[in-house]
Amino acid sequence: MILNINKQCGFFHLPNDNIVKTIGVAALLCLVCSVIVSGAATLLKPTQVANALLDKKNNILAVSGIDLTGKSVADAFSQIETKVIDMATGEFTDAVDPVTFDQRKASKDSDYRVELSGDQDVAQIGGRSKYASVYLVKEGDAVSKIILPIKGYGLWSTLYGFIALEGDANTVSGITFYEHKETPGLGGEIENKKWQASWDGKKIVDASGQPVIQLIKGTVSPETPRAEYKIDGLAGATLTSNGVTNLVQFWMGEDGFGPYLEKVRAKQSQASAMADKNTLEQG
Ligand SMILES: Cc1cc2nc3c(=O)[nH]c(=O)nc-3n(C[C@H](O)[C@H](O)[C@H](O)COP(=O)(O)O)c2cc1C
Repeated sequence: MILNINKQCGFFHLPNDNIVKTIGVAALLCLVCSVIVSGAATLLKPTQVANALLDKKNNILAVSGIDLTGKSVADAFSQIETKVIDMATGEFTDAVDPVTFDQRKASKDSDYRVELSGDQDVAQIGGRSKYASVYLVKEGDAVSKIILPIKGYGLWSTLYGFIALEGDANTVSGITFYEHKETPGLGGEIENKKWQASWDGKKIVDASGQPVIQLIKGTVSPETPRAEYKIDGLAGATLTSNGVTNLVQFWMGEDGFGPYLEKVRAKQSQASAMADKNTLEQG
């Protein structure tokens, strides 16, 4: 076709310093490049989506406590049940498909987004989705781990992660941050595996039921009062540390997963009260 155009208009026979030829060649080059780039973007889109999903699964598995030796991501992830809860009631919902539900997208979609007031928005996220994903690791019928997505503002950026709780819905069994733009070596230490491991066994809520877990300035020692609710602050990164405290308290609190977690805890104490009663009656 180009040759035909060329034969008809003699475009390519024009001298190289001709302004029409210069602009024409540049325009043609732009057209060819944009076709290649948009074609590549369209072709690669399914791979990008699949990789993003794989990455998400890897991050969930990282805090799941599941033994990954010799298992593919798909195999290991099949041990996790994905559910969606209505944040206001804390109940499971089938209003959306748990497998395809994208909480990050939903939090920006006016059909799902719930705006947070200044007082509520301690994590500085502006709003959140009315539905949220929860990932359950089960041992038989019992839930052994509850994995929850968390996010909130640090110093420079929104930090995205997952927190895993034991079946009691109060003891931390893992935390990971997989996306942020904090400074490497300062706020970026939220990725430090040793620091992340220091969360294991810490408690979220105290006897009042309020989330009190917090990062302190310095390190936690056995002598630190209420050490079970305290995490080492990140050296030279108090602002990111405060962001982590705020986001964890938000997501564990009444405007986050609080209603759901309270229901799990209530069920647990009911079950253990029943077990105690049965033991007493049998004894
Ligand atoms: C280039 C640069 C990058 C910084 N990045 C971070 C960061 O990612 N997170 C953070 O909390 N503080 C960061 N800070 C330090 C903060 O400005 C602030 O001094 C610090 O949070 C105070 O923590 P400290 O009381 O533990 O020293 C950075 C400072 C500079 C100069």
